[in-house]
Amino acid sequence: MKVGILGSGEVAKDLAAGFLKYGHDVTLGTRDPAKLADFAKKHPQARVGSFADAAAFGEAVVLAVKGSAAADALRLAGKANVAGKPVIDTTNPITDAPPVNGVLKFFTTLDDSLMERLQREYSDARFVKAFSCVGSASMVDPNFKGGRPTMFICGNHDGAKKTVIGILEQFGWDVSDMGKAEGARAIEPLCLLWCIPGFLRNDWSHAFKMLS
Ligand SMILES: NC(=O)c1ccc[n+]([C@@H]2O[C@H](COP(=O)([O-])OP(=O)(O)OC[C@H]3O[C@@H](n4cnc5c(N)ncnc54)[C@H](OP(=O)(O)O)[C@@H]3O)[C@@H](O)[C@H]2O)c1
Repeated sequence: MKVGILGSGEVAKDLAAGFLKYGHDVTLGTRDPAKLADFAKKHPQARVGSFADAAAFGEAVVLAVKGSAAADALRLAGKANVAGKPVIDTTNPITDAPPVNGVLKFFTTLDDSLMERLQREYSDARFVKAFSCVGSASMVDPNFKGGRPTMFICGNHDGAKKTVIGILEQFGWDVSDMGKAEGARAIEPLCLLWCIPGFLRNDWSHAFKMLS
């Protein structure tokens, strides 16, 4: 699959390496290609361009930018370039305020989520929340003593979710579908829970698993 990744941070780079490993074609988008110069040297198959270049390239698009800048990044990517495509939304609505006893602050409430805001503004894009509740180092080929972890997803478009489920299974995840876009109200806060052991005990190596 041709995948356009919006972002130059750890999530964008770790997912780009994973997509390349599993045989996909990747273009990363950024406002500043110099940020990806080392990555491009290490992964000569990856292309680097603008947000619009990456979004236009992708049959699927990955949104991997700072939560507060997600709408701006999509504006730069271009509405038409994401219309009708699965948009894998890795973002979290974290504010710039410091964590309180290890708990980050969000700019959303429990009755709204970042992904719903983006879905409302970019109504032709097919957002699927995924990868938001685990550290980027474990997004591809997660390796935990407790077994295969669970990725929680949600989104309004069943076909887009099917595409994302295929990618997640390829990357080594069980998938738990939490329904329509409103499910992001519950999935995004898992990031808060995931980060607490990190901030309190410098323990960043864990993931969630759904048991039944
Ligand atoms: N880090 C993790 O392990 C992790 C895990 C799960 C979820 N997440 C979520 O995934 C997302 C990406 O995280 P990250 O740590 O890789 O990177 P990040 O530092 O949160 O974001 C960096 C990206 O944000 C873009 N950005 C910042 N301000 C912007 C603006 N005003 N307009 C347009 N773009 C802007 C940058 O664009 P340029 O390239 O143009 O500078 C860059 O690509 C975040 O929402 C984060 O909460 C992170």
